[in-house]
Amino acid sequence: MFKQLLSAAVLAGALMSPAGAEQGDPDRGRVISFTCAGCHGIPFHQNVYPTYSVPRIGGQTEGYIVAALRAYRSGERRHPTMQAQGNTLSDQDIVDIAAYLAGLGGNSE
Ligand code: HEC
Repeated sequence: MFKQLLSAAVLAGALMSPAGAEQGDPDRGRVISFTCAGCHGIPFHQNVYPTYSVPRIGGQTEGYIVAALRAYRSGERRHPTMQAQGNTLSDQDIVDIAAYLAGLGGNSE
């Protein structure tokens, strides 16, 4: 009986750890944010299309990036291009991308 309780507790702990918390995985973020670099530049602070300006997103705080992407996805923030991007992202994608971008450092102009 004690053993069963113990293994149930261990199992619950394992299930709850990384997936339950909204923890971004920067490695996954780096891979899935590959397409973002097409517009936001590499490493995300250069505009590759000189005809219009694209904000620098590398080095922004995680909270800022998560809020921006959710706002595009929900349509609260209107911009056809970024709304289209946001629509393809899950909550996990967003926190992973944010973890990666926040880690790039803000002062690499
Ligand atoms: C086709 C070009 C394009 C692609 C691809 C693209 N973006 Fe953007 N992004 C833009 C433009 C243009 C803006 C400015 C939109 C506005 O004025 O609201 C923007 C804005 C943003 C902002 C808000 C920045 C701020 O300072 O408010 C974030 C965050 C962002 N993009 C993240 C991403 C991420 C993450 C991806 C990849 C999933 C991505 N973008 C892919 C063009 C692009």
